[in-house]
Amino acid sequence: MTKIDGKTIAEKVIADVTRDTAELKAQTGVTPGLSVVIVGDDPASQVYVASKGRKAEACGFNAETHRLPADVSEADLIALIDRLNADPAVHGILVQLPLPDHIDERRATQRVDAAKDVDGFSYINIGKLTAGHVDDAFVPCTPAGAMILLRSVLGDDLSGKTAIVIGRSNIVGKPMGALLLAANATVTTAHSRTPDLAAACRRADIVVAAVGRPQMVRGDWIKPGAVVIDVGVNRIDAPERGEGKTRLVGDVAFDEAEAVAAAITPVPGGVGPMTIAMLMTNTLTAAQRAAGRAGGG
Ligand code: GUN
Repeated sequence: MTKIDGKTIAEKVIADVTRDTAELKAQTGVTPGLSVVIVGDDPASQVYVASKGRKAEACGFNAETHRLPADVSEADLIALIDRLNADPAVHGILVQLPLPDHIDERRATQRVDAAKDVDGFSYINIGKLTAGHVDDAFVPCTPAGAMILLRSVLGDDLSGKTAIVIGRSNIVGKPMGALLLAANATVTTAHSRTPDLAAACRRADIVVAAVGRPQMVRGDWIKPGAVVIDVGVNRIDAPERGEGKTRLVGDVAFDEAEAVAAAITPVPGGVGPMTIAMLMTNTLTAAQRAAGRAGGG
């Protein structure tokens, strides 16, 4: 069994982005600019946003974080997005989700210019991905990172492989299915209404778990020799570590699955580090396109 080392692979991606950023600056004078917008003070979102900003600076980008109060009006948020859309120094815009209930998430995310949509949430980028024009699209960061981990084991062409994606979210499940299909896998998208999920999973050479339910995928759901990509990040009680302690687990029961799988991503240290790395990749690509240095767009 191979444990897929997302931390090391993400570090390699970041090193490439840092090198290519220096080259872009030297050749064109353009410094990639990433603007992150966060509304309210959800603690998990604050942690994510801080680490996105730090990583962007480490890559040599200009990074700015716009912190808006939880009661900001939708009109004010849209006005900020419009300003960032119009600012030539800003190449990537990310509106951190979730947004407070009084703001329409769809209106806010769709307001971001598709050329600056480094989250890959805009209908234009979804359309390009679904049409199989992967190199033209900004692909959502988590499935893009999951694909790199999968390819580190199976290579680029997944012809002849069956894949199951468990979860149908717009951020992970649906784009993951599109990426697997573009790589020639035969894809099933499963979800909470899928009958006999365990049996469907047992037929798959590739399992991508993205449901947000701790350790739901058991070892006996895994076909011997399958590759397992665990996108879940769930905090559970860990009394064995002491009173009140918690730990992170994925959507897959790791200890059971690793005994059966050919390769599996751990949690933490699997897909997680790749998500931020792909945000940096997407932002660099946006800046390269703005400078006339990259295809697609
Ligand atoms: N919240 C949780 N994941 C994400 C993500 O990938 N992008 C944004 N914008 N918000 C998120």
